[in-house]
Amino acid sequence: MNYRKLFPGIIAMLGLAWSGANAETVKIGVVLPYSGGAAQFGEQIDRGMNLFVSQHKEAFGGHEIELIKRDSKRPGGDIAKNAVQELITREKVDLLTGFVFSPNAMASAPLINQAKVPMVIMNAGTAWIPKLSPYIARVSFTMWHAGYPMGGYASESLGCKTAVVGFTNYPPGKDSRNAFTTGFEKAGGKVLEAIPMGGPRQVPDFTPFFQRVKNAKPDCFYVFVPAGNHAVAVVKTYANLGMRAAGIRLIGPGDITQDTKLQDMPKEAAGMITVHHYSADYKTPVNLAFVKAWKAAYGADTTPDFMGVAGYDGMAAIAHAIKAQNGAVSADGTIKALSGWSYDSPRGKITIDPETRDIIQDSNVHKVVLKDGRMMIEVIGTIPQVKDPCKANGIGKCK
Ligand code: PHB
Repeated sequence: MNYRKLFPGIIAMLGLAWSGANAETVKIGVVLPYSGGAAQFGEQIDRGMNLFVSQHKEAFGGHEIELIKRDSKRPGGDIAKNAVQELITREKVDLLTGFVFSPNAMASAPLINQAKVPMVIMNAGTAWIPKLSPYIARVSFTMWHAGYPMGGYASESLGCKTAVVGFTNYPPGKDSRNAFTTGFEKAGGKVLEAIPMGGPRQVPDFTPFFQRVKNAKPDCFYVFVPAGNHAVAVVKTYANLGMRAAGIRLIGPGDITQDTKLQDMPKEAAGMITVHHYSADYKTPVNLAFVKAWKAAYGADTTPDFMGVAGYDGMAAIAHAIKAQNGAVSADGTIKALSGWSYDSPRGKITIDPETRDIIQDSNVHKVVLKDGRMMIEVIGTIPQVKDPCKANGIGKCK
């Protein structure tokens, strides 16, 4: 409970001075999938958040945090919206975070506008989400950070003249399709077809979609699925249908080569090219220390992935906002504190763009390689400090 926020007038009248010695408890509502097939995402983000807190107690400026967690279960928006409603009205949270699936963040936006509660998004990647509320800041990525440069790279560096796009049929999938198509066609390529391939809730049988792609014989097959079990099924289907031998390159955002899933993929994963902002295999000192601490905390056989790092960085952002407001967290104060905030993340330098409240970060070209029996990511190119290309170019709902 934030008494300064509730009684600012009385506090001013009494001439009470609030100093760093007055520790506040900041209530943070965390909305993540904790059950079903997507529970692995909730666990990653939770672990990232917890690791940051355990390592950086001082970052909160002497204030306490109370995490109040709710299971968003499905990607459909309804359950997350109810959870947000309850977190705002009953729990009276000061800030909301989590949000793996775009529809869950989208459905919650009107509620945070009404109640003026800030939201720090730790995954949901549809580019135009921050347009829905002035109180949203995002520490993860937009679908354009990967899809748009992947389009340019496929045409210019992989020599793909034609491509087919396959995407999970919900907002970030459509956004990723648009991002890739824009980048690819701007660089001279031609998208032959874009195929919706089921929804995010259940992994579909990809075989009929991929057979259609095989018949179309594109040079590149760009796929977006929401990581996790979907991603493993994509690469298995690609392998089973002999698409590599047929001369079709599988490419996409790094969601399809997620660190936590690489070892479950068939050998045909080797050679895949994706664009993303994080891999546990990055060799920078900050990331080596991060991965070491992760393994020490959660087990030698565990690894962080892009969701884990978002939980970690998201908590760094939240700590900064709490400290900057001396524990009196408001929507305006949080956005002000986060605008222009920069951090030396395990993924490299990140900054919250004051204009868009979205992240600025490197987009890296990843190649999957098989080394000593282990699939890993090698960085073969970097586009430094990318501002969301959808907003930078004022495209569609990003205008
Ligand atoms: C999303 O719903 O925005 C989303 C989910 C999983 C991903 C990427 C985007 O891997």
